Amino acid sequence: MRHRYLRPSLSLPEMLQSDLDIEYAVDARLKTVIALCESDFVTRDMLVVLLEDTKTDHAHFLEQQLSLIKTMGLPNYLQAQIGSGQSTS
Ligand SMILES: [Fe+2]
Repeated sequence: MRHRYLRPSLSLPEMLQSDLDIEYAVDARLKTVIALCESDFVTRDMLVVLLEDTKTDHAHFLEQQLSLIKTMGLPNYLQAQIGSGQSTS
């Protein structure tokens, strides 16, 4: 079975945009489900936390990265990422 969102051999900007599209889809679905949870406050509160995380963390991070690539160009973006990760050792 082929995953709907998994598309190998994309460029980095395409991968980030694909991930962002997924976050937007999650955002829309969470809003739909939250609207159905009018009387289930516990579930609604849990979904609202997920929605905020999707908006303010996941989607925001991806939007920032795509903006940086657009502003500084992919080679400079990649250069800036070297050494910015945490060591695994
Ligand atoms: Fe996410």
